[in-house]
Formats: sequence, structure tokens, C-alpha cells
Amino acid sequence: MDKLIIQGGFSLNGDVTVSGAKNAALPILCASLLAETPLHLTAVAALKDIDTTLKLLAMMGVKVVRDAEKVSLDASDVQSFEATYEMVKTMRASILVLGPLLARFGTARVSLPGGCAIGSRPVDLHIKGLQSMGAAIHIKHGYIQASTLHLPNRRLQGARYYMDMVTVTGTENLMMAASLAEGKTVLENAAKEPEVVDLAECLNKMGANITGAGTDVITIIGVEKLRGATHNIICDRIEAGTYMVAAAMTGGEVKLHNARADLLDAVIEKLREAGAEVKVSLAENTITVKSNGKLKAVNIRTAPHPAFPTDMQAQFMAMNAVADGVAKVTETIFENRFMHVQELQRLGADISIDGNTALVKGVTQLDGAIVMATDLRASASLVLAGLVARGETVIERIYHLDRGYEFLEEKLTKLGAKVRRSN
Ligand code: UD1
Repeated sequence: MDKLIIQGGFSLNGDVTVSGAKNAALPILCASLLAETPLHLTAVAALKDIDTTLKLLAMMGVKVVRDAEKVSLDASDVQSFEATYEMVKTMRASILVLGPLLARFGTARVSLPGGCAIGSRPVDLHIKGLQSMGAAIHIKHGYIQASTLHLPNRRLQGARYYMDMVTVTGTENLMMAASLAEGKTVLENAAKEPEVVDLAECLNKMGANITGAGTDVITIIGVEKLRGATHNIICDRIEAGTYMVAAAMTGGEVKLHNARADLLDAVIEKLREAGAEVKVSLAENTITVKSNGKLKAVNIRTAPHPAFPTDMQAQFMAMNAVADGVAKVTETIFENRFMHVQELQRLGADISIDGNTALVKGVTQLDGAIVMATDLRASASLVLAGLVARGETVIERIYHLDRGYEFLEEKLTKLGAKVRRSN
């Protein structure tokens, strides 16, 4: 299994281009199932989760043509309406095919995701939302079996649905389903994440009628058919945030291109509070982070967008581990998202956990060690720690990183890091 070997102690300097967002691409790839003509996408990053989604769609009969970061998807001849356990267990986001399959074909069979490293992560709200649109849903043999065949014209029926937790993929699944439903759907307490907005924009180009994406009430007037369109995936704000923290921690100066500062307010605020200099150009979509490497500890509390993203919590934990002072890091989205703490401790971090809060006491120096990646963002925090640790850090099980960071070693190496992959 591949490992990442990092020699710590080199500051990062130069330019880096942020890739298309994984979490925007995954629902948009699944949205291709809704269209009768081909959907053409650009800025689709070369990531394991993207490969998995394309494989899943191809298994259903979607014709996929991929050329570097361009992907075309033709769902004019879909013959299978199933996402198997084998697929869903490797990537929970496979649940995003449920809404599109049901809305367009009136039937879907999707495995329940099961457990996951960062908590139980149920999909009950996806299911209840579809039921509120009239779908008949049964859980059998570990699969969600959904049908609209009993409904008028076999179509989902528009509904008003309040989600009692903010769920990103839940909002996306229901928005896609409602696009082809009969009548009006109103999703209340919807997720406001930029990736939801990007999906809504793509669906509208495909002929959907969606308003309010980016607010907590999304209104969808169903249409009978959707067609293909051309869409460029928005930049990955979490990848951007990770390189920003890397620049701040290593005491360098990094200019990020294709980086939307308006999607990163909470992260930029916290980096400035820590003492890094952050310059933003909204016109050019660039963010420059400069630091002398001496940072102050900053408290973090994760919450749905536009608050501080849970997907940046682990990276800020690594930053706090070498900052001056004590920081409280509170995770409110996922119940078990401190898997990185034990690994950071192996590098010499001083962190204690009490429930959903971690108390991080900054130390002057981390020391390289062998550590293990446990999930995607936890792995990113280990890379960041490795960049500033004394000596060599070996990160095992880096397939997690390949799920979400495009060309990681290449990008870091270009910025001056000493990183290599070995197996
Ligand atoms: C998405 C992102 C993930 C990010 C997360 C939170 C994708 C592919 N993944 O995950 O990177 O960390 O948002 O920003 O976009 N919940 C329920 N019932 C449901 C659905 C969710 O109880 O039916 C709970 C979850 O257990 C969790 C919370 O709601 O505690 C938020 O989860 P959710 O927003 O759904 O996360 P994902 O969409 O899976």
C-alpha cells in the first residue's frame, strides 16, 4: 500500500492552482442520470472518488467519455437502477444516485452505506424527503428499494419538506429528485454549501427551475424532462483551505489560483486571527497567504456553511498543535471526527479530548514518526504536521488522500516541500 514520506522543515512558497471541487463534482456527475442528452463537464479533478462515481454510472449504462479534466456523460440508455453494496461501501456519496434514478426511471435500488470512520452518518433524511414526495421506500437486505410506480404518471409529487438536520448530500439528492417531480417542492432548513449552489446552477442549465440555492429555503418547480448542458465545476474550497494552512504553518508565501475567497470567509478569518497575512483578489480568484511561521492558537467550532467547515477541522488541529497557546476545537457535525488526534499525538502534539471538544496545547516542535491516515481530512492534517515536524514522517494508507487531493505530491513539491510516494 502506498505511503507518503515527508521531510519536514521546508517552507512552502510559490503558486498553486486549486482543482475542481470533489464535493461539487460528485452530485453533478450523478445529475447526469436526470438528462436525456449528454452533460459536458470541465474541471473534474483526477480523484479516486470521481473514478468510483464514473464506474458506478457506467455500470448503470451511462456512456462516459473522459479526457483529462473534461468528462461527458450520456444517460440516454440506462438499463440498471442499482448501486451495489460493493460500490456504496467504498464511497458513501454513491447515495446521490438515489434521487435521480427514482425521479427519472421510477425505480431505484441503492445499498445502505453502513458505518463510516467519522461516525454513523445515517441517510434517513434522504429517505424521508423522498417519501414526502410520495415515493414508496422499503429497506430490504441492506438495500433501499424505492419506487414511484403507484404515483400519478409515475412521477414524484412536489412537497414541502423540512430537514431537521442540515445535510449537504441530503439537500442535493432531494433537489435532483424534485427537479423532475410533478409540481412545486420547497426544501426547508436546506444546506447552504457552495457545492449545493453549483449543483443548482448546473441543474438550471439542464432545464430545471430551482431558486433559493445558497439560502436555507430552496424552491424547485418540477419539469417533465431535463437535457444535457455544459458546466465548469467550482473550485475546491477545502483543498484551497488546506494549502492556505500549509503556507501559514511552514512560514512561507503561497498564492492560490482558482481560489474563491468568498467561499472561505470563516477559514480566512481564523487564519488572520492566528497571525497569517491573507490577501484576496475576488476579481482574479486568487488568495495569497504569507506567514513567518509563528502562529497563535485559535478556537474552532465547526457548523454548516457559512460557519467553519468540518472538512477543515483536522487541518486547523494540526496548525494549533504547533501554535502559541491553547485552543479549543469543537466538532458539532460528526460524532467521531477526532481520529487524527491519536496520530498527531504520535508526532508529539499535546491534545486531549472531552466529548466533542479537543483541547490543543501548542508545542514548539513536532517530531517525525510513522502515522496512519484514517480518513480524508485526517490524512491532510498529518501531511501538514509532517511538513513542520523534525525529520521524516511516513504516512501510511494514503489512499484516503487520493480520494480528495488532486496531484498532492506534485503540488507540494512545486511549492518546495520534500515529499515522495513509496509502496
Ligand atoms: C457532505 C460532504 C462532506 C462534509 C459534510 C458536512 C459530500 C460528498 N460530502 O457529507 O465532505 O464533511 O457534507 O459538511 O458532499 N445526517 C442525518 N441524516 C441524514 C443525513 C445526514 O442524521 O439523512 C447527519 C449526519 O450524520 C451528520 C450531519 O447530518 O451528523 C451532516 O451530514 P451531511 O451534511 O449529510 O454530510 P454528507 O452530505 O454525508
